[in-house]
Amino acid sequence: MNTPLAQRIATLRAEIEKHNYQYYVLDNPLIPDAEFDKLFRELQQLEAQHPELATPYSPTLRVGGKPLDAFQPVRHAVPMLSIRTETDISDGGALAFDARVRRELGLGENDAPIEYACELKFDGLAINLRYERGVLVEAATRGDGETGEDVTQNVRTIHQIPLHLQGCAAPVLEVRGEVYMGRRDFERYNERQRAQSLPTLVNPRNGAAGSIRQLDPALAARRPLSFFAYGLGEVRGWTLPATHSAVLDALDKMGVPVSGERAVVRGAQGLVEFHRRIAAKRDRLPFDIDGVVYKVNSLALQEQLGFVTREPRWAVAHKFPAEEQMTVVRGIDIQVGRTGKLTPVAKLEPVFVGGTTVSNATLHNEDETRRKDVRVGDTVIVRRAGDVIPEVVGVVLGPSIHQGERKEAGRFDLFKWLHGKCPVCGSAIVREEGEADWRCTGGLFCPAQRMQSLLHFASRRAMDIEGLGYKLVEQLVERHIVGTPADLYDKHKLNLQTLAGLERMGEKSAQNLLDAIEHSKHPTLARFIYALGIRNVGEATAKDLARHFGKLENLMGADEARLQRVPDVGPVVAQSIVAFFREKHNVAVIKELLDEKRGGVRPKEHEGEAAEELPLAGKTFVLTGTLSMARDDAKAALEALGAKVAGSVSKKTDYVVAGAEAGSKLDKARELGVPVLDEQGLMELLKGNGVT
Ligand code: IVH
Repeated sequence: MNTPLAQRIATLRAEIEKHNYQYYVLDNPLIPDAEFDKLFRELQQLEAQHPELATPYSPTLRVGGKPLDAFQPVRHAVPMLSIRTETDISDGGALAFDARVRRELGLGENDAPIEYACELKFDGLAINLRYERGVLVEAATRGDGETGEDVTQNVRTIHQIPLHLQGCAAPVLEVRGEVYMGRRDFERYNERQRAQSLPTLVNPRNGAAGSIRQLDPALAARRPLSFFAYGLGEVRGWTLPATHSAVLDALDKMGVPVSGERAVVRGAQGLVEFHRRIAAKRDRLPFDIDGVVYKVNSLALQEQLGFVTREPRWAVAHKFPAEEQMTVVRGIDIQVGRTGKLTPVAKLEPVFVGGTTVSNATLHNEDETRRKDVRVGDTVIVRRAGDVIPEVVGVVLGPSIHQGERKEAGRFDLFKWLHGKCPVCGSAIVREEGEADWRCTGGLFCPAQRMQSLLHFASRRAMDIEGLGYKLVEQLVERHIVGTPADLYDKHKLNLQTLAGLERMGEKSAQNLLDAIEHSKHPTLARFIYALGIRNVGEATAKDLARHFGKLENLMGADEARLQRVPDVGPVVAQSIVAFFREKHNVAVIKELLDEKRGGVRPKEHEGEAAEELPLAGKTFVLTGTLSMARDDAKAALEALGAKVAGSVSKKTDYVVAGAEAGSKLDKARELGVPVLDEQGLMELLKGNGVT
């Protein structure tokens, strides 16, 4: 069919696939995401309206189709072999392979060195992609090498895998390669799961294998997978080049992802160099590898060498030190992060893993520790890959340990473990509802959080102390000159003499800093509240609180119920505020800051009465439509009376002021039964409160 509609659909599919390739393979998007979404939605809509124009290779299928009951078996046209592994991880492994190949080929010492294609050994799941006339028709796992499983639906959700080959219409071209999960994708996925207290993936390899073997393709589509090609299966009607490296070049041109970390080298020395070069950059690769693979480059020589049982004689995997190892847990410590987050860390019998000796590994949080059921004395698997912090992957349950015998009583309980107190400063610890982490409430006081809280306190949108940057704060904290924000204002602690001893601090910059500190003494109340670094209290909330309470002491004395009367303050924020002021260390720091003889900080509060006693305190207004006075003036007048002026109408809105041509906000107000004032009503209200 070649109607304009069919043409539009074809164009959309081609365009979308082009952008998929640019985005996922080349990492070089040509259009903004929103544009892409528009094209995608148009195609989805056309396909829904015209099911007769559906194809099994439309990019709309990448979001995942119907769940399956089971995978269908697929018999491989050409068996999927495995590869011999060289267990000698030293240079010897490469030398042994070259010697074997030369012997098999009957080469003597004086014959020329052999040319090898070197590539990475990806750590994922082997997949066979079958393209017929350039179209992806089937994807299968390796299975036992003879028969695999049909995972086409799931593989289609991998955006990097082309649904069409560019410039290849061969009757059959099977591409073989590895489906894997990148480290960042793995970390991000697990972080999201952890934050929701959901199960995490053990490692990227299991992540890839588990997703591909997931019967519900929509779930598979949620897991970010990638692909690299490393060879061919059945080929019909496509002329093979002379070398393996040229095969990969050709696949690359067809739009199939091929790793750039590959090389053609000569002789054993070339193999050794490749192995060393990749070992040195292994940590910096964005995905896990467990070694490198050497292949005789000439396809003719490969044929001559042939196979032993299920392994080709022309290829070998040369391993690196493992990124996972077993060791014993000697203890569990709790570390306090810069934001007060408490992280359980396993103290380990030192073990060599991923190229270094590891004696600490994170357990992430309380729920993860419980789920993995890690206890002192257990044998565990530790993983260290890339720059990522080493982590405990799981417990190895030996014959003497059965899950059932490990009673509830032993379940890890972070609160009990710490007797409810921060191990660094002794402040109370809290775990808020819906949060995965316990936290120290000693914000301003806890040494572990000092750096962070001082930097926040001084930042531009908080107290705005110019010149108090990271390097300086670091020195001040390390030399015990400054511990809390109050110390910044203490002339005995911070003065020209103490500053002069610091790196990169001349007399002029020291004086400038002291001036900046002096200037910061009269912030607005909102800035001061924000500067305290109360969890969940950002700038906007700080402004709401300042407006509502007018005075710091009113805020400090408020309970959760009272706090929740502030617009936009819900139970979580209210709880954070109460926890912060309940901590006497924090209150002590605030007292010092405000003490005339010490800190001398005086936030600009409403004079005389508290804002809560202002006539419109606690009332929220929404202005809509055209008023004869400027919108900003109306807003300022209402705010002067203690009101808050919000942008949208909700149940918490007390009045909507509707000018001429008021639209949807007025409708919403009527719908919710919020009282509506017209302009005259507003004027009367202002006049009645002494504003003219
Ligand atoms: S070639 C006939 N090349 O390692 C040779 N395999 O036992 C077929 N693998 O699970 C394999 N990276 O998925 C080859 N660059 C690479 C590879 C690679 C990873 C995997 C493969 C299979 C295992 C081989």
